[in-house]
Amino acid sequence: MPAIRPGATGAVISGWGTALPEKIVTNDELAATMDTSDEWIRARTGIEERRVGGSTAGLSTDAGRQALEMAGLTPDRIDALVLATTTPDKQWGTAALVQNELGLSCGAIEVNAACTGFMYALVQAHGMIAMGADRVLVIGTDTLSRITDWDDRGTAPLFADGAGAVVLESVEGAGQLLGWDLDADGSLLSILHADVGGTIKMEGKEVFRRAVRLMVDSAEKAMAHAGVTADDIDLVVPHQANIRIIQAACERLGVPVEKAATVIHRTGNTSSASIPLALADALDNGRVQHGDLVLLVGFGGGMTAGSCVLRWGGDAE
Ligand code: ACO
Repeated sequence: MPAIRPGATGAVISGWGTALPEKIVTNDELAATMDTSDEWIRARTGIEERRVGGSTAGLSTDAGRQALEMAGLTPDRIDALVLATTTPDKQWGTAALVQNELGLSCGAIEVNAACTGFMYALVQAHGMIAMGADRVLVIGTDTLSRITDWDDRGTAPLFADGAGAVVLESVEGAGQLLGWDLDADGSLLSILHADVGGTIKMEGKEVFRRAVRLMVDSAEKAMAHAGVTADDIDLVVPHQANIRIIQAACERLGVPVEKAATVIHRTGNTSSASIPLALADALDNGRVQHGDLVLLVGFGGGMTAGSCVLRWGGDAE
């Protein structure tokens, strides 16, 4: 990966927001409909409950509105909307629906890289700012419950719905992004896939094994690009797929697991929303200080992977 071009306009995250459906489904409720148990799901995944319901456009609009409010921006100030989702409400136009609901007057596109979608969208938004956009709204939303086979105990306990959004604003100087990586390995599509109109099919054990490797490889590439090491990282914000994947990835990266932001116990795997949901939770709980190094790292179907190293608040030098 070439070094970030000197003179390219930088960006910082100036606002964030989240949205979760109201309906909570506990492990015990799942165990009432299939051969599983609260004990098994907690021990194997770290998930205690998940949220189910809503539409991708509706959740995106709620999270996006919060992010705009926090950034103190009126809708007319946004130059582009990038919506990461693998569960659009329609074949096309979900981002445009959100654009309309939020009263934006800018372009709106969807990015689909399964659970890595938010990482692809965030890198793309930084690129837009380097090319002249001033403010980009980046939203990660999925309603995976709509493509989950609720009779399959191998996948049903994992997946859920939610949205997270950030406003990215251009700044003088280098901005927050120190390094990034986006990866894909299409030879692994068969172990985690969903046909159009179908449900998620997964070889859980193999996905687990590959996920840890993909996350570690991607994070290491992004850290090398940023010129930092695992010792420098203050907070890791990993894709929330399984607490054991997060623990294994942190261990292999050499980052204490206490430095990981986790919301999986209450959200399940919300795909494109998982990283912004965990990031927002860490920010809201005062876990990130100005100048901290934050590593975002995701993986997903495809298989895909992606990472960003951010210096929180900018001043990348
Ligand atoms: N409840 C009770 N028992 C279960 C359940 C369940 N829900 N599911 C499986 N089991 C049983 C199995 O049948 C097996 O029983 P056996 O030993 O008698 O054969 C036993 O539990 C162990 O099953 P494994 O599949 O080996 O369990 P594992 O520890 O691998 O955990 C899991 C399964 C949680 C799915 C894990 O493999 C995993 O998390 N994989 C990665 C999933 C993931 O990250 N997906 C990413 C999606 S990202 C995207 O883009 C959508």
